[in-house]
Amino acid sequence: MAAGKGTRMKSTLPKVLHRLGGRALLGHVIDCAARLSARQVVVITGHGAIEVEAACAGADWATGSSDLQSRIKFARQEPQLGTGHAVQQAVPLLADDGVTLILNGDVPLIQAQTLRKLLDVCAGDKLALLTLTIADASGYGRVLRAEDGAVLGIVEHKDATPAQREIREFYTGVMAVPNKLLKTWLARLTNQNSQKEYYLTDVVAMAVADGRQVVASHPDNEPEVSGVNDPLQLAALERVYQSRQAIALMTQGVRLADPARLDVRGSLTCGQDVEIDVNCVFEGAVTLGDGVRIGANCCIANAVIAAGAVIHPFTHIDGEKPGVQVGEGALVGPFARLRPGAQLGADVHIGNFVEVKNSTLARGAKANHLAYLGDTTVGERVNYGAGSITANYDGANKHRTVIEADVHIGSNCVLVAPVTIGAGGTVGGGSTITKDTPAGALSVARGKQVSLTNWTRPSKKTAS
Ligand code: UD1
Ligand code: MG
Repeated sequence: MAAGKGTRMKSTLPKVLHRLGGRALLGHVIDCAARLSARQVVVITGHGAIEVEAACAGADWATGSSDLQSRIKFARQEPQLGTGHAVQQAVPLLADDGVTLILNGDVPLIQAQTLRKLLDVCAGDKLALLTLTIADASGYGRVLRAEDGAVLGIVEHKDATPAQREIREFYTGVMAVPNKLLKTWLARLTNQNSQKEYYLTDVVAMAVADGRQVVASHPDNEPEVSGVNDPLQLAALERVYQSRQAIALMTQGVRLADPARLDVRGSLTCGQDVEIDVNCVFEGAVTLGDGVRIGANCCIANAVIAAGAVIHPFTHIDGEKPGVQVGEGALVGPFARLRPGAQLGADVHIGNFVEVKNSTLARGAKANHLAYLGDTTVGERVNYGAGSITANYDGANKHRTVIEADVHIGSNCVLVAPVTIGAGGTVGGGSTITKDTPAGALSVARGKQVSLTNWTRPSKKTAS
């Protein structure tokens, strides 16, 4: 169910598209359903339906199942007349056999193992409810039970008597229902209640009246079934999610300076002996090889960092298509910026305030200070001086610069692309190079230095 408005988010973005761990809330729920090998996933959309459906169509599913996209179908619910009405819209898409698992698009931390347990107790022919007992269940639908413990029904908070409001067992919004029964019960729903809504939860009393067994199972913890209604709850669940990521990484041996100061908004794959200092943000798919060290305050997206590389503090790596690669033993930062297509070979050094975009640096190349390398192929052992740049853009097109092996580029040089600096050559500091240079040569392109010896500095006129 993803048709609700999410008024309390106070946002123009449909609630289920707000992000947790870098992915839409709804994406987490769909991925979870996919982990159960669902025959199909029906997304009930209403508010912001076009946006929600487009987001699903363009999503990168975390679950490896490649055919997930083709198993996602949409049912529109317009207007939104309650959760029962929502599920009614999906009926034409549901097979007559099998079981439907009803999930909320705004409950992102639900776990596949919890749903598997629920499906197990459903056993294909019972109505199975996911419920939880907490100290204060205010706001939720309460589970009504007979003295022998048998479930009798669910009463919504707004319809509950004061005595019923004391009940601490609540319905989490998740149920598993045999399709055949679901269809007959949905057809019998009415909106005779305080909210004039069609409550899905009314099917519980119908099941009891029909002599069907109603069973319950429970999640491990409350955050797993907590919904997002406002930015506070979104932030709280984000912390829960991040703490789960941190625990998983540490369990695997990753050394985090502080698990509370790590954000993984995608997938972070780590080798052995990886160390990550505080306040690092990882986005998209990031892989860190054995012994990689990440300094404090780094943002790293879509990158593969090979064994032994060190990323010093405040480095920004953004490999959003094409990705960034950092070779074995390379040193990057502090304050370095690697943009899409930066490919650093082994033992490359990129120092402070150096920006690299769409460039390949071969083994041992160094650009240690205040430099720009764009659309450049850099050979082995090249030393690229402070303040030097490649002028890769002529105002209309991008051009490549080739710096062959063992070249030494002095400080403050401008290499105007397209241009090739021949192997072993040296470019004198302050040169603007517009033509290819021969291998081994010293190339200098700048005003000749003159020194005037018979020159006197102007002096202040004295008042007469
Ligand atoms: C629902 C349950 C309540 C349970 C609670 C758990 C009903 C009647 N009540 O209450 O017992 O304790 O969830 O969180 O089911 N939605 C639609 N279309 C609609 C209405 C809702 O798609 O017409 C979607 C919402 O976007 C949301 C989900 O259904 O994802 C739940 O709706 P919500 O309004 O939060 O239900 P509650 O009243 O909180
Ligand atoms: Mg709710």
